[in-house]
Amino acid sequence: MTAQKLLRSLTGITTTGTPHLGNYVGAIRPAVRASRQPQTENFYFLADFHALIKCDEPARIQRSTLEIAASWLAAGLDPEKVTFYRQSDIPEIPELTWLLTCVTGKGILNRAHAYKAALDKNEAAGQDADFDVTAGLFMYPVLMAADILMFKAHRVPVGRDQVQHIEMARDIAQRFNHLYGEHLVLPEAAIDDNVALLPGLDGRKMSKSYDNTIPLFGPREQMRKQIMGIVTDSQAPGEPKDTEGSALFSIYRAFASEEETKSFAKAFADGIGWADAKQQLFERIDLEIGPMRERYQHLVEHPAEVQAILIAGAEKARTTAAPFLRDLRSAVGLRALGSTAKAENKNQQKDALPQFKQYREKDGRFYFKFAQANGQVLLQSTGFESPREAGQAVKRLQTEGFAALKELENVLEPITEASTLMITDALKRLLDETNP
Ligand code: TRP
Repeated sequence: MTAQKLLRSLTGITTTGTPHLGNYVGAIRPAVRASRQPQTENFYFLADFHALIKCDEPARIQRSTLEIAASWLAAGLDPEKVTFYRQSDIPEIPELTWLLTCVTGKGILNRAHAYKAALDKNEAAGQDADFDVTAGLFMYPVLMAADILMFKAHRVPVGRDQVQHIEMARDIAQRFNHLYGEHLVLPEAAIDDNVALLPGLDGRKMSKSYDNTIPLFGPREQMRKQIMGIVTDSQAPGEPKDTEGSALFSIYRAFASEEETKSFAKAFADGIGWADAKQQLFERIDLEIGPMRERYQHLVEHPAEVQAILIAGAEKARTTAAPFLRDLRSAVGLRALGSTAKAENKNQQKDALPQFKQYREKDGRFYFKFAQANGQVLLQSTGFESPREAGQAVKRLQTEGFAALKELENVLEPITEASTLMITDALKRLLDETNP
């Protein structure tokens, strides 16, 4: 198949802090790498509406937005290739949030981990359950659902702590689609198990809340000093050292090649002194980060450049968001008084069913694809000699559904953007509708 961009990936970064090495290794670097893959269309945004839920210091929100944007750009994010924007520059997002709020069960929100944690904390402290809990915290998952659903994202790369939010976005989308027709794409969380969890200065996971972080783009000398401060034991130079459980070693591995990591392990076994090991770690990190630091410095000193990039990104994002929101407004009944709904009944549901399409290509062979009503391709066949063969395969999928999928594997192209879950959901819907 051609390099048509079928898979849309989207993720947000809350703008409340300064990026540290853990953010770089866990989120920024993998995202920048993923953004270079041609098959996906990537959306990255600064979740500054979300930041307001956690932070009431205007200067900090502003500064963090600048620092995070500058960090992503310095780390190699290419705003020409991706859509990079600030959430608060997209007025369609809060508007969609309201439409979604009206179909979201309060019970679902009651079960959100972050909200429940706040209640539990109050209970433990003998406070009123709602003490210091804003409606913003309660609504957090709906705003996040709007971020995702606004752009019909299929995949949402997040950390494990966010998986529940993606599930809630699916629930909310399903509910909306059930009421108003198949408008919203159900997203899935994409968790990358290969990214390193970076330990911090004290050996615990590097995290702002433990105050054990190394800022990503602090001055070079400051970074060196911080690395020298990583906690180690009291083993002397010459004594063989264990790599297992060594924060120093784990951080090194997150930056080095396999080869380099092996020789670092050998140095440990040979009794490298901690000061030497730390110096080597610093040099290895600086090899990667050093060249980006200059660009970062330039950007934070020229906020107008960053601003212009984000505004252009928001304009690009709004070319999708604005027309889609118009459709959604119309779907719920917020439309010109004289206009009639396009198809607001059983037919709409029918039209919205996923469909098989058979066709002939220039190569003379016969193909089929299975696509959602919104055009998202779920299955793409290889070329068949005759239309009859293509038809037979389609027939089997239509009647046997998922059961036929495995056996037809060798006549189907791998489509990374459609998960098995989506395909089975869609086949099942079709089966249910056609054989009631
Ligand atoms: N809640 C996410 C976090 O704290 C940030 C976020 C906001 C987000 N909106 C999003 C992530 C949409 C993915 C998609 O990490």
